[in-house]
Amino acid sequence: MAFRHPDDLPLADPALLSVDAVIAIDGPAGSGKSSTARALAERFGLLYIDSGAMYRALTEAALRLGIDPADEAALAALLRPAQLELRPTRGETAVFWDGLDVSSAIRTPAVETAVSRVSSHAEVRRLMVERQQALGRRGGVIMEGRDIGSVVFPLATAKIHLTASVEARAGRRHRQFAERGVTVDRQAIEHEIAERDRQDSEREVSPLGISPDAIVIDSSALSFAQQNEICARACLVNPALEATVDRDPVAARAGLDFRYRLAYGTMGALGRFYGLRECGNAGLAAPAGCILAVNHISLWDPPLVGGTLRRRPMHALAKAELFRPAWLAGRFFRWLDAIPIRRKGYDRAAFGQASTALAGGANLLIFPEGTRQAIGHPGLVRSGLGILVQETRAPVVPVFVRGSYGRHPGGSLDSPLEVWYGPLLRWHGLDDLLANHDRRAVSERIGTLCRAAWCELQARSHAQNPETEFEKRLGDKQLRKFAARQAQVFGR
Ligand code: DC
Repeated sequence: MAFRHPDDLPLADPALLSVDAVIAIDGPAGSGKSSTARALAERFGLLYIDSGAMYRALTEAALRLGIDPADEAALAALLRPAQLELRPTRGETAVFWDGLDVSSAIRTPAVETAVSRVSSHAEVRRLMVERQQALGRRGGVIMEGRDIGSVVFPLATAKIHLTASVEARAGRRHRQFAERGVTVDRQAIEHEIAERDRQDSEREVSPLGISPDAIVIDSSALSFAQQNEICARACLVNPALEATVDRDPVAARAGLDFRYRLAYGTMGALGRFYGLRECGNAGLAAPAGCILAVNHISLWDPPLVGGTLRRRPMHALAKAELFRPAWLAGRFFRWLDAIPIRRKGYDRAAFGQASTALAGGANLLIFPEGTRQAIGHPGLVRSGLGILVQETRAPVVPVFVRGSYGRHPGGSLDSPLEVWYGPLLRWHGLDDLLANHDRRAVSERIGTLCRAAWCELQARSHAQNPETEFEKRLGDKQLRKFAARQAQVFGR
């Protein structure tokens, strides 16, 4: 449900927002993202970054140099060596391209018309996203754009999708132009906004859309002050929810039955033996009733991740083949509450059991790529995760495992063994997404987000411990082998 009034969201303590918070504001042109992002930056003491200005600066440079907005290679070559600098000022961000102040030049109708085309190219987006992530990785930023919550900062503290009707947005753009003394026909702006919406939403790479975990705010009928207030509250929703999670592992563990104590004890010892490090959000670990979505690179992943959980019952979805022979392996895995799943098609029984376990407060461990992948290359997430999320609304913790493949007893020096926990993803935007897309498309978005989260956790891991030669070599070799296995399991 889109929020339309400040009272729809509870008041929360601004002190909950940590200094390294990352706020993502996405939405269509003219929805008021820039003004609100600037106001929130001031209110919470964050650095404001306007990612649209970066695409505009590239467009302006291309037009100035006579480069065709459709020429991906030429645009990428122009962008790669360029010095693109954003300097926050009181009004609009000052933008410099190779030292040249282009702040006004990027706001002309000519740039406005060409920028959608320029920003539709995969390589241009890849280069821009790299720059944007570098600007915000240390936190303390609020960034606005089209793909900030879904691609640039999949682990953001808060994600807001700010939207408004085409008429309301055209009215605002019209006033902005008038204030700068530019006369533009209102009808023409309306047409141009609708056209840009279409182009931004229909492009193949990172189309504009609601991230399933974003809070959707419709500002059509809101004053600027109301819009800021509701967005400020939206920034605090996840931190406020996090503050209610029980962080006392001892109390949580007290209720565990014998089986789990034995299993977690053994799994934890295995992790310690191999020198496993728990990183990221591990202190929060997994609250009751949430799904742990883990990337899969080795058969050791389930016990290694299990050993880092330790707080409540864990039900793992495991391929049905593992339960054979039924009298030995089958019994053992069932004793540990593992749920057998047929990997091809939709296994109703397995999903039913998983939903029941989540409703009962257990953690559900799943490997949503469906099969093991090459190390260093998180695979595509299959539809199962999205289906489960849509059925249960259970929050998801993305978990990234590194180094579980090819280890030797005593801890190999070839790659560090780490389990990275991301933040809890909660599905605030799910109903809004379902209002406009079918369930399959929504599952796809949930999967894409999960994979983006793994990639970000992997980048954080590599920032601490760079990728080793062993990992690089092995990963490349495995890519071919695992593609073949994927085809064997899933038929393509
Ligand atoms: O927010 P804006 O109007 O200044 O953005 C200009 C264009 O840049 C817009 O048409 C879409 C594109 N853009 C994008 O594709 N991704 C972003 N993160 C930001 C902007």
